[in-house]
Amino acid sequence: MCGIVGYVGARPAEGVVIEGLRRLEYRGYDSAGIALVDDGTIVSDKRAGKLANLEKAIAESPLPPVTTGIGHTRWATHGPPTDRNAHPHVGRARRVALVHNGIIENFAELRGRLESAGVEMASDTDTEVAAHLLEEQLETGVDLTVAMQNVCRGLNGAFTLVAVDSQDPDRVVAARRNSPLVVGIGEGENFLGSDVAAFIEHTREAMELDQDQVVTITREGVSVSGFDGTPAEGRRYHVDWDLSAAEKDGHDWFMRKEIFEQPRAVADSLLGRRGTDGLLQLDEMRLSDQDLRDVDKIIIIAAGTSFYAGMVAKYAIEHWCRIPVEVELASEFRYRDPILTSDTLVVAISQSGETADTLQAIRHAREQRSKVLSICNTNGSTIPRESDGVIYTHAGPEIGVASTKGFLTQLVACYLLALYLAQVKGTRFGDEIAQVMDQLDQMPAHVQSVLDKSEEVYALARDHVGSRSVLFLGRHAGYPVALEGALKLKEIAYLHAEGFAAGELKHGPIALVEEGLPILCVVPPRGRDQLHDKMLSGIQEVRARGACTLCLAEEGDTTIEPYADVLFTLPQVPVLLQPLVAVVPLQLFACELATQLGHDVDQPRNLAKSVTVE
Ligand code: F6R
Repeated sequence: MCGIVGYVGARPAEGVVIEGLRRLEYRGYDSAGIALVDDGTIVSDKRAGKLANLEKAIAESPLPPVTTGIGHTRWATHGPPTDRNAHPHVGRARRVALVHNGIIENFAELRGRLESAGVEMASDTDTEVAAHLLEEQLETGVDLTVAMQNVCRGLNGAFTLVAVDSQDPDRVVAARRNSPLVVGIGEGENFLGSDVAAFIEHTREAMELDQDQVVTITREGVSVSGFDGTPAEGRRYHVDWDLSAAEKDGHDWFMRKEIFEQPRAVADSLLGRRGTDGLLQLDEMRLSDQDLRDVDKIIIIAAGTSFYAGMVAKYAIEHWCRIPVEVELASEFRYRDPILTSDTLVVAISQSGETADTLQAIRHAREQRSKVLSICNTNGSTIPRESDGVIYTHAGPEIGVASTKGFLTQLVACYLLALYLAQVKGTRFGDEIAQVMDQLDQMPAHVQSVLDKSEEVYALARDHVGSRSVLFLGRHAGYPVALEGALKLKEIAYLHAEGFAAGELKHGPIALVEEGLPILCVVPPRGRDQLHDKMLSGIQEVRARGACTLCLAEEGDTTIEPYADVLFTLPQVPVLLQPLVAVVPLQLFACELATQLGHDVDQPRNLAKSVTVE
């Protein structure tokens, strides 16, 4: 996720901005840039790669010692991580410099209008349009604050924008909608940051903004308004975290922070997917509708958590599109001589985009003339580069080794793919697809409602600190959730944990059940009555043998009460979408249990974030 810094004060802005960017490095990025306001001109430098590249460039070509500036570390979304796509972006007259976090959904339309008015774009980004629009506004004679308000009213999507105007050197203006921005309040100086880590070494006094607000900082003060210009008040608070906690937004682990970021990550992954005509659009799909219509079989390849996302995708794609789907571990795929034709679509799911097993598998598939579509969180990584098309999940960088928001956003991408295929192949009516999209749009709020009850899950985890083993049961789309819950516990709590399809119990695993064994049960929603009832039978079977049943079931499901030693309620959602809410308590459970056991949750033993060897 991009990092943003803004500064106006008495010190050289270059140092404050570069230091701020360094404090935001933990967010992950692939290019960095800075812009300063110097005596009526914008001076800027920006480089692909790490901050060190930018610092080297500045050392060779020093910047002026001025006291107003903005900076950015970019996590590529629109356009690859290159020098030209790095932020800041400037307007045509180089009067404005702008940095941006988020996605401007209607940028294509705005870009088209600017291009027909003769503006030449210098980058592939959605950001650049906002720089041009701001400059257009300034040319009408308004100041940067009003220009920002006017521009923001015409933008759709989620964004934080921070800009400077070369003709107004003592002002930095920012805006936010559904994207992070915080103000740091100093003495004779003020700061802007994606989070407080950007300025915590200078001040611990901060101000939080609401949605759809514009903030102007000068040396003397801070003023806030709505996008419509109405004056507003930010909420001031004192930050009592140290730097390392500040990077984690006050959480003890990146993993916990990332779990709590999931409502935002899911919302970002859904942004911009519906065109003005209501049809689904997947920007970087790159496979033609005809290619997709010809697909007669899909093979999903992935590893670990991504593999479980693929298992959920199978249920969705087969149900909505009636195309047979196989899900295969990437490490096994090419060694079994899979049957691949030019009508086979291979879908590779990888958060990092660098997993060697998955990469080798797609290379093998392409050698056999199959089309490869990847679902990936890392723009510019190897797997999407070697694929015919890609759906990016906009989770932002995942730092905790155990995947959490990566998984949820992969699920979203899988649902989008399934619905897109249904649209192209005509296996679902437009209103049915729109209905599922509406249900997906509700998911960030549903995930949030689960997170709001995290204390319930933590208490449960603390009750089971002494357990030597934990089992997980699920059926249908809840089965991969059970597998994922068990994987999380193995990875970070180093406990024996197994996930089972509930129907398989009596074929062997039930022999493991002994008095007091905790079994987490993912109960399907009641809409599928047979599925629900069969799950209940499975729960009764293990309870009768002494297991302690910890059940996740939808609100209002009273039928489960007699069989649940502990009941955690989930929001009511359709069965195919239930993994998005059901996995969250399992992530919280593992995170808390591992914390209680004293383990390093972010860097569990023997594991690496990106597995680049086969
Ligand atoms: C589990 C986890 C791993 C990854 C797997 C694939 O928490 O993170 O199981 O899911 O190594 O990684 P990607 O998705 O980067 O290909």
